[in-house]
Amino acid sequence: MSDFVFVLFGGNGDLAWKKIHPSLSKLYKQGKIKPHKIISCSREANKEEFLSKIREHFGDQYASICDYINVDVTKLADFNFIKSLEKHEIIFYLSIPPNLFEIAIKNIGHILLDMPNKRKIVVEKPFGYDLESAKKLNNLLHTFFIEKEIYRIDHFLGKESVQNIFSFRFANYIFEGIWNKNFIDHVQISALEDIGVEGRYAYYDKFGAFKDMIQNHLTQMATFVAMEPPCCMDAEEIRNEKVKVLRTMRISLEDVTLGRYEGYTLEPGVNKSSKTETFAAVKLYIDNLRWYGVPFYLRTGKKLKSKTTQIIIAFKRMPGSFEKILGCCPKENKIVIKITPTTDIELRLDVRAPNADFLSCPLEVSMSMEGSRESSEAYETLLLDIINSNQTLFLREDEVELAWGLYQSIFDSWEKKKDVELYEVGSFGPKSAKELIKKDGRQWYIF
Ligand code: BG6
Repeated sequence: MSDFVFVLFGGNGDLAWKKIHPSLSKLYKQGKIKPHKIISCSREANKEEFLSKIREHFGDQYASICDYINVDVTKLADFNFIKSLEKHEIIFYLSIPPNLFEIAIKNIGHILLDMPNKRKIVVEKPFGYDLESAKKLNNLLHTFFIEKEIYRIDHFLGKESVQNIFSFRFANYIFEGIWNKNFIDHVQISALEDIGVEGRYAYYDKFGAFKDMIQNHLTQMATFVAMEPPCCMDAEEIRNEKVKVLRTMRISLEDVTLGRYEGYTLEPGVNKSSKTETFAAVKLYIDNLRWYGVPFYLRTGKKLKSKTTQIIIAFKRMPGSFEKILGCCPKENKIVIKITPTTDIELRLDVRAPNADFLSCPLEVSMSMEGSRESSEAYETLLLDIINSNQTLFLREDEVELAWGLYQSIFDSWEKKKDVELYEVGSFGPKSAKELIKKDGRQWYIF
């Protein structure tokens, strides 16, 4: 796709330097995109310095299509430069603090009113901070844009292994008959991080781990695991199936546990009486025919033992008297979808150990299906999809509202009583998270 102008608000921000410019420049150098111009906007960078930093990081070729403009998104007059872009399709990308989304959308919208251009708008997360604010943001977007022009980002959906869930499930017939409550005991999704809040207190202290990760990334991954196959690979059909899952998800307050790493409130910039959680674990159910009664356990947290993101599909244990015959109990079979740091899928089975006795305890082994092709950064995938108008990996209006709606009753009740247990830095989180799954006779896994 050529002849589009990419207008990046927050163009000098952290995300722009770490993800957006690296991905755009790579796609450009590979010849996958041919933008007319990439305009970075921010409040107070120096144009010459900005462009020379772009040249230094990404080379002359990419720098030659980059431009920079000082824009204060709260000032309508600063958006006048858009009028000079009238011959091109414009992609507006909001990589700015969430409290500026509304005013930026209004200002872009006002300028576009007299312009016939094709346009798209990309909204980074967080999309709202509760159901009501998400609805308000959707309504505002729809004042100026139609749904086909709106791209709500959840960058986890651009990750290689998350997309692989689709191929893995729908291209391998052996799984078709067993991907349900008759064979699957439970599903667990962990997104553990070893880093802390890293200077993002202003945002994080308001949101916390639940709204930062569970409500969006982890719930989205759960919908990929649980959805029915769509009738075709069409963005609307796929999102319709995800919506059906979201509509049948159920959670209760007693199945939520929150934690905070020791020392969080002592860090510079954090409110000393903060009640923000840096860890959250939940148990969800999906009340449909395929999943009725199968728990989905989700957990995430900061300053934990390692940076690991995994989905584990745990099958039921062997029934019968195996335990009596062998004197031990075979483990349940598992499919492990590794998302970070590797992008591998493993099938874990119990087999006879080499050279062991015939009637010996089986040994858990893993068969790995590591992809051989070089995987792309999530943002490369997502940016290419935006440019090519493929909305499959972006959240539709109803999806985003259902995902907030699912948890709204939890947020409403914990405003009154938010129970947050401290946990040790470098651990696997609070004891209550262990309890949440242990009381069901299960345990968390990381492979
Ligand atoms: C972001 C969250 O959406 O995802 C961060 O706001 C988190 O708090 C990050 O660290 C994790 O993403 P990734 O791709 O590094 O696993």
